Amino acid sequence: MAKIVLLEKIHASAAELLKAEGFTDIVQLPTALKADDLKNALADADAVGIRSATHITAEALKGLPHLKAIGCFCIGTNQVDLTAATAHGVPVFNAPFSNTRSVAELVIAQAILLLRRIPEKNARAHRGKWEKSAVGANEVRNKTLGIIGYGNIGAQVGILAESVGMRVHYYDVESKLPLGNARPEPSLEALLEKCDIVTLHVPGGKSTENLITADRLAVMKPSAVLINASRGGVVDIDALNTALREKRLAGAALDVFPVEPRNDKEEFVSPLRGLDNVILTPHIGGSTEEAQENIGREVAQKLARFLKAGTTRWAVNFPEIPYLEKETKSRVLHVHRNEPGVIARMNADFAQAGLNIVAQHLQTRGPIGYVITDVDDGISADLLQKLRSEPATIRCELI
Ligand code: NAI
Repeated sequence: MAKIVLLEKIHASAAELLKAEGFTDIVQLPTALKADDLKNALADADAVGIRSATHITAEALKGLPHLKAIGCFCIGTNQVDLTAATAHGVPVFNAPFSNTRSVAELVIAQAILLLRRIPEKNARAHRGKWEKSAVGANEVRNKTLGIIGYGNIGAQVGILAESVGMRVHYYDVESKLPLGNARPEPSLEALLEKCDIVTLHVPGGKSTENLITADRLAVMKPSAVLINASRGGVVDIDALNTALREKRLAGAALDVFPVEPRNDKEEFVSPLRGLDNVILTPHIGGSTEEAQENIGREVAQKLARFLKAGTTRWAVNFPEIPYLEKETKSRVLHVHRNEPGVIARMNADFAQAGLNIVAQHLQTRGPIGYVITDVDDGISADLLQKLRSEPATIRCELI
């Protein structure tokens, strides 16, 4: 049975799931490891689970020929050299969806707090001011929520918003099936001008940088509020600062910023600090105990499926083959350079060994191909050796 090493205090849900899947050789270590310590800890590991502090470099992978899969128990995968992992035939998994609900709940909470003018009232109460007034305080029921980016998080926000009575509109660059009673808008401007609450759920990067400009803020109603829990670069922060100070916008909630401190020792610097009608949170939209628990399960499940069946669905760097139950005696997982003739030669090897292929699934992605072959007989050591020594082979495993 495969050995799995889990580093960096990964949530207990991961080991629980792996045990339930029948894995007994699980080593759990509390910290990140580097260089020789990492090499020693993973020398005979089939799979490793890391969070963001363990770096798996090309150099580290070279020294770990036994390692077959990497699970990043977080969203990002920058800590792994993905190109090197692909070149070594090692799929890398992460948990892109486990904190969707946490972000969506925060957005709904922020919408309610902003429309009730709670940030200002809270700040003034802390300063000894008893501002008992209904002026400008509204329920969210029957208000129009505009979602920009109707993906995993945006769509979930829409569902929760409808359950508290909001009317949901969305704008997405792709055509998206509306959930519940949500209505698509033909343009960003059409959405901005009609909404009481606008919330951003687009990806980061060049295509969405400064998506919300001064001109677009000017289209919004002065009574409207803006929420950004996507990526900091999506909003022109100086333009937002001006709009808020000139009262051309009623409030904002920001969880992400163009420049964020790298750790809790660095000061958080933002022109929005000190504005009573702005909720500022330190990029914690997805940070909940439940999300950590879900991440533990989601990535452990992906590792278990790979180790038991060769499934690479949702791998970030690898050709994806969905879950196919292993119903035959042997299954061969073969990773190879993506070039002509590899499968023909491989199948000739199977035929020469007198083996009938029951099922075969191939996917390619960039430089590599990945094929799962099921046969109803045992695979001899000779055949395995032959498949491994084929010049295009990167990795060949038998399960
Ligand atoms: P997703 O990929 O499921 O959805 C993004 C949607 O935005 C897609 O439907 C896409 O078509 C759409 N889109 C792309 N460019 C657009 C544009 N210019 N205008 C309108 N729509 C556009 O992503 P998911 O998982 O919903 O995440 C959304 C954002 O939330 C990401 O930026 C992610 O990094 C961020 N996030 C923030 C967290 C936090 O702690 N605050 C936690 C988790 C995710």
